Amino acid sequence: MHEDTSFAIHPGKVQQTNASSFRDIGNLITHKKNESTYYFQCDNCEVAMSFYTESIVRIVMNHESKPRLQDSKAVIATPKTVSLTEHATSEQLSFKTSKLEVYVNKQPFRITINDQNGNVLLHEGDRGMAFNEKGEVISYKAMCETDHFYGFGEKSGFLDKRGEKYEMWNSDVYAPHNPETDPLYESIPYFMTLREGRAHGVFFDNTFRTVFDMKSEEDGYAFSAEGGQLDYYVLGGPDPKSVLEQYTYITGRMPLPPKWSLGYHQSRYSYESEAEVRELAQNFVEREIPVDVIHLDIHYMNGYRVFTFDKEKFPNPEKMIADLRDMGIRIVPIVDPGVKRDPEYSIYQEGIRQDQFCKYIEGDVYFGDVWPGESGFPDFTDEKVRKWWADKHTFYTDIGIEGIWNDMNEPAVFNETKTMDVEVIHQNDGNPKTHRELHNVYGLLMGQSTYDGMKEQLHGKRPFLLTRAGYAGIQRYASVWTGDNRSFWEHLAMSLPMCMNLGLSGVAFTGPDVGGFAHDTSAELLVRWTQVGAFTPYFRNHSAMGTLYQEPWQFGEKNEAIIKKYINMRYEWMPQLYSLFYQASVKGLPVMRPLLMEFPEDVKTYNLHDQFMIGDNVIIAPILAPCITNRAVYLPAGEWVDIVTEKVYEGNHTHLVHAALDQLPIFVKKGTAIVRGNTLSSNADKTPKRMNMDIYASLKDEIYRFTFYDDDGETFAYENGTFIKLDIEIASTPDAIKVTVVDQNGKFVPTYEQINVRILGLHENQRVIINGEVSREEPVILLK
Ligand code: GLC
Repeated sequence: MHEDTSFAIHPGKVQQTNASSFRDIGNLITHKKNESTYYFQCDNCEVAMSFYTESIVRIVMNHESKPRLQDSKAVIATPKTVSLTEHATSEQLSFKTSKLEVYVNKQPFRITINDQNGNVLLHEGDRGMAFNEKGEVISYKAMCETDHFYGFGEKSGFLDKRGEKYEMWNSDVYAPHNPETDPLYESIPYFMTLREGRAHGVFFDNTFRTVFDMKSEEDGYAFSAEGGQLDYYVLGGPDPKSVLEQYTYITGRMPLPPKWSLGYHQSRYSYESEAEVRELAQNFVEREIPVDVIHLDIHYMNGYRVFTFDKEKFPNPEKMIADLRDMGIRIVPIVDPGVKRDPEYSIYQEGIRQDQFCKYIEGDVYFGDVWPGESGFPDFTDEKVRKWWADKHTFYTDIGIEGIWNDMNEPAVFNETKTMDVEVIHQNDGNPKTHRELHNVYGLLMGQSTYDGMKEQLHGKRPFLLTRAGYAGIQRYASVWTGDNRSFWEHLAMSLPMCMNLGLSGVAFTGPDVGGFAHDTSAELLVRWTQVGAFTPYFRNHSAMGTLYQEPWQFGEKNEAIIKKYINMRYEWMPQLYSLFYQASVKGLPVMRPLLMEFPEDVKTYNLHDQFMIGDNVIIAPILAPCITNRAVYLPAGEWVDIVTEKVYEGNHTHLVHAALDQLPIFVKKGTAIVRGNTLSSNADKTPKRMNMDIYASLKDEIYRFTFYDDDGETFAYENGTFIKLDIEIASTPDAIKVTVVDQNGKFVPTYEQINVRILGLHENQRVIINGEVSREEPVILLK
C-alpha cells in the first residue's frame, strides 16, 4: 500500500536484514567417485561434482538429501567421462582436465576453479557454499576489480551488470520498465564474466526465486536461491564465444527458424475482425511494403477462450488464412495459458474431466483472473498435460496456422502477487512440487508443449513460436520478445543492451515491440525504431489498445517511404541474417552481438550499449534520441566502411557520424564480406532471385572466413542434407583479393545459380582471384 507515493521512503521503513543466518557447509570428511561423479561428504551436506566436457564442470550442494543430478528442466547434456589427473595432499584435492583445474580445499570445504594455465576463474574465500533454516542456499565468490558481468537473460539497464543485483522470478510488468525494474518476464539464471579479455560463465540451475548480487560487496559476488540445491555449471571459456557455445551445449540451441519468421511482423492489440485484417494485408500489398506475419491478439477469440474464434468477427478464419497466404502473409494467433472457467466450454470441460489443471494439495483447482475472467491453468509440468495441450493445437494447424504467440505465461494473474498462488502443486511427472519451486519454468514447459505439438502437426514444416516468459533453455522452442515496453525513446535505447544480454544468455532470436507497445508513438520514434528493428533478430511492430496506430503508413508519405526502405533492407539482408541464424542453431552464437563478443580485449566495448554488431563484421550505430542527426560511434580495431557513403574510418577511434532521418549508420569491417539478396519484387514470393556478395577490400594482409548458408527456409529437409553451405575465405594482400570456396556442402538447389561478387574499394594494384582464377569484369562464384 502507498508504494506509489513518498510513503515508500518513510524514515520508519528501514529494511531489516538477516544476512548472518547462513551456515557454512563445513569441512570435507570423505570423498568417493561413482561412475563419472565425485561425491564429497562435508560436515553439513554432500557436494557432487561432474564434468560435462573438458571445459564444463558441474557442482551440486544439497543440505537436505543426496545431491539430485537428474531433474533439470533446462539441461539437455549429460556428464562425460573426461580424462582427468587427480592429486591429493593433506590440505587439498585437485582434478585437472586439459582445460580446467578444480581445487578442493578440505578445511573448510572451498572450491577454486582455474583454467589450464592456472588463471583463477572462480574462487571462494572466507565464505563458500552455505544454507539456512529457511532452506535458502547461497554461493559466495571472490570478485576481481576487473570483472564485468553479462547475460542474466532479460534485464533492463546497461550492458555491464557489475554493481547490479538481480532477481529471477518471471513477472508480468506493465508498469514502465526502467533501469531498476526487476524482475521481468524471463528468468535465465546465467551470467558470463569478462576479465581482462578472458571470459567464463556460470549457469545456476535452480528454478526457485534466485538472486544474483554483484552489488552489495566490493570484492565478492553471490548467487542464492529461496530453496532447492546449489546446482551450478562452470563454463571455462576462454572467450565470450566459447562460453556461449558451452552454455548452449548444456541448455540447447535454437532450431533453425522458418525464414518467414525472420521477416517483418505487424501486430496490434488488437486487429479485431477479419475485415480489418484483410484491409491491413491489402494495404501492405498495395503499398509494396513487405510483410510476412500479421498477429491476432486476444480479440480474435470468443470471450478470450483459447482454441476458439469469435465467429461474428472472424466468420471464416480458414479462408482468411488461405487468402492471406496467397498474398505471402501468415497469421500468428496469441494463445495464453488461462482457460476460462465455463462449464459449457469444451476445453474447460476436458481440462476438468481429464484433470489437466493445476490444483491445491487438497484437490481444488486453482483459479486465477486473467483476460477471460476466472480461469484454470494447465499443469505443463506433467507430460500428460503437455501432450493434451499440444494436441489441441490442431485447432490452429488444421486451418493453415504455422506460428503461435504465447503470452501471459509467467503465468500472469491479475492479483497482488501477479501470479499463481505459490502453494499450488504441480504434478511434475510424478514428483510433485509447489508453484514456488516451479514458477519460473511454467513458460518454458508451455513452450515445449506448444512447439512439440506444432512440429508434429505441421508434418515436416518448421513451427514458429513467440513467447513472453521462459527459463534457461527457452531458445530450444521459442523466440522471445521483451514484453510491454512503451513508446519512449528511453525504451528504444534500453532495448539494445536488453537484447544483447538475451543473446549472451543463449536466446539469439529476440527483439522488442518496434515503435513501443504502450503510450503513443511518434513519427520520428517509429522511423528510428524501425531502422533498429530491421537489424534486431526478431522484428515485430506491436502496439496497445487505445494508443495511436503505428503501421508503416500512419505518419504520412515521407515517413512511410523511410520505414519501407528499412523493411526492404531487412529482406535484402535476409541471406546474411539467415547465415547468422544458422550459426546460432549450431553454435549458440547470437545474431545481434555486443562489440565485446568480437573484441574482448578492448575495454572500451565493455559497457558499450548504444551500438551493436550483426555477426562478426558489421556494426550498427542507430540514432536513439529525437532531433539528433549526428552521433558518436566507437569503431574497434580494423578499418571500417560506411556502407552508404563508402567512407573509410580508422578503428580504435570514436567518430562523429551524420545520420539524417532516413539514415542508419552501418559499418562493415574491411577485408570482410556480407551477402545480400535482391529487393523483393513481390510479397507473395520472397525467395531471392539474385545473391550478391559485397567484399570490402582491404589492402592489408588479412584473412577472413565465413559461412554462407541457405536452404528452403521452411522444412526440416536440411536435416537430411538439403541445404547449401559454403565456407568462404577472403584473403586480402596489397596486390590481390582472393576469394576461395574452401568447402561446399549440401544438395539444396537454390533459385540463384551463382553468387555475384562485388568488390568495394578495390585498389588498382589489386587483382581479383576467384577460386584460383583471375577474374575479369564481373566476378562470380558458381555454385556446384
Ligand atoms: C500483454 C502482452 C501484449 C498483448 C496484451 C494483450 O500485455 O504483453 O503484447 O498485446 O497482453 O494480449
